[in-house]
Amino acid sequence: MKHKIQIKSPATIANLVCGFDILGLAVEEPYDIMTMELSDQPGLEIIHLDEYQLTTIPAENVAGGALLAMLEDVKDAPGLKLTIDKKIKPGSGLGSSAASAAGAVMAASKLLQQTFTEEDLVRYAMFGEKVASGVKHADNITPCLLGGITLIRSILPIDIVKLNSPELHITIVHPQIEVKTSDARQILKKEVQLKNAIKQWGNIAGLVAGFMKEDYDLIGRSLEDVIIEPIRSILIPGFDEVKALSKEAGALGGGISGSGPSIFMLSKDKNTAIHVETAMKDVYNRIGIDYKTYVTRLNKEGIKIIE
Ligand code: HSE
Repeated sequence: MKHKIQIKSPATIANLVCGFDILGLAVEEPYDIMTMELSDQPGLEIIHLDEYQLTTIPAENVAGGALLAMLEDVKDAPGLKLTIDKKIKPGSGLGSSAASAAGAVMAASKLLQQTFTEEDLVRYAMFGEKVASGVKHADNITPCLLGGITLIRSILPIDIVKLNSPELHITIVHPQIEVKTSDARQILKKEVQLKNAIKQWGNIAGLVAGFMKEDYDLIGRSLEDVIIEPIRSILIPGFDEVKALSKEAGALGGGISGSGPSIFMLSKDKNTAIHVETAMKDVYNRIGIDYKTYVTRLNKEGIKIIE
């Protein structure tokens, strides 16, 4: 039995514009590095090497909450020490909490040689999301665990579908403001008008069909959100401009990453993705808000074992 496992747990983009809480994809960068070791001390010890001052009390820590849920189903579990080097900033909209939760359960299940199903791992990891935002949602966790583009058809019972992953380049801008997922959910309307629902499910079906057929025009046309984006985009200065200029630069389309404030754009090739990055930078340089950008690709594998 191995004593130690080290993994890269990737950032993810939830919602994919029209698919609130049901669609998501994994990216190559950024990612967290997590090391799980067997320990002589019983229970769970968590160490954070990053600067984010996250609690290391297991029940209050996102990775800890997910692990504790999993360990309830492991007989005679040994002591575990988890070291997290977080590169995905919490509150960025890039699935930071999902990377911790999914990474922790994946690493522990491998280290302890458990035979949990993908659905089990999603279920355990959702306890971590609950610690983070008070709500169990799986649209970041699932692509983080499985890689590629995923659909959550249902979380009760868990029914997850890995979709076809066409070649996609992804540009992300993270304006350095914080939007808490809990706040970004709080402001949403509880009811939806039928005419908007019809538009939205047309777009979701179009987007899924676009991914399956690798029809980039259909993907671009379907990246439209008439329900969530009009409300949430108010929290993100420069949003409309970033979107308009990114499309002018050749992006297929995009929108708010998860609950924001990051904005993502999909492109067919790397050159376009780089032009989109320039357009994004121009907007925030002009507005005078600090930002970070990434030009990355669809991550088809999800969590990767380093050693
Ligand atoms: N689907 C979730 C939301 C993702 O948009 O609230 C949060 O990262």
